[in-house]
Amino acid sequence: MMNSKNIIVEYNEYKNKIGNRKELYRAIAKKYEIGGALYPGSHIDIAPSFVIPKVIYVDNFKGAINFFKNMELIKKYIVKNKEYKKPCDIVFVGQNYTRELNIEPVDLIISQYAGFVGQATKKYLKVGGILLCNDSHGDATLSRFDDDFEFIGVIGKNNIIINTNLDDYFVLPRSKTVDLAKIKEKMKGPKYKLTVENYLFRKIK
Ligand SMILES: C[S@@+](CC[C@H](N)C(=O)[O-])C[C@H]1O[C@@H](n2cnc3c(N)ncnc32)[C@H](O)[C@@H]1O
Repeated sequence: MMNSKNIIVEYNEYKNKIGNRKELYRAIAKKYEIGGALYPGSHIDIAPSFVIPKVIYVDNFKGAINFFKNMELIKKYIVKNKEYKKPCDIVFVGQNYTRELNIEPVDLIISQYAGFVGQATKKYLKVGGILLCNDSHGDATLSRFDDDFEFIGVIGKNNIIINTNLDDYFVLPRSKTVDLAKIKEKMKGPKYKLTVENYLFRKIK
């Protein structure tokens, strides 16, 4: 009982720190009919499981590994709060996400502040599947200039998905060209003229 409370408290404290992402994940899950997702570098952000029936979380940080040791308690909490009818299926893999993952292809990959997730794990994304990412470490930029992906949208205010005027994004001041080698080295997205918190890509091949 005590343990159960601790895990939920830990998650809620984390959620207060990073902001509640449930609305973000819900908007994407609904629009693109997401049944299964992969979340490399998830830490303990279990919000996707409230709105997506099957989520595979991957993180090699000890704190995350310890958190997910309480899988039964986490599942109980998700079952109480989930928004879909299907049973919830949560898998945690406590390893480096650049190492081989023994999983089936998913409908969505979530990349949030955890390095070049899209590049490292796109092989686990179905063709036609969606990559949600921000540009904190430059993952959105690498996806934007990756022929495997099509840039299909941004997340606007109140988690509205916007699919128009996309040419306005990933544009540098004075029309400078993006130096991908520098982004890979620095692990930081450049300062574009127009930015948003999150970008959406579709895997096209
Ligand atoms: C800044 S936290 C972000 C956590 C979560 N995505 C969020 O937005 O709240 C980055 C997480 O990614 C994990 N991470 C970074 N590189 C990783 C890798 N190569 N393999 C597995 N986990 C990784 C770290 O352990 C850490 O928990």
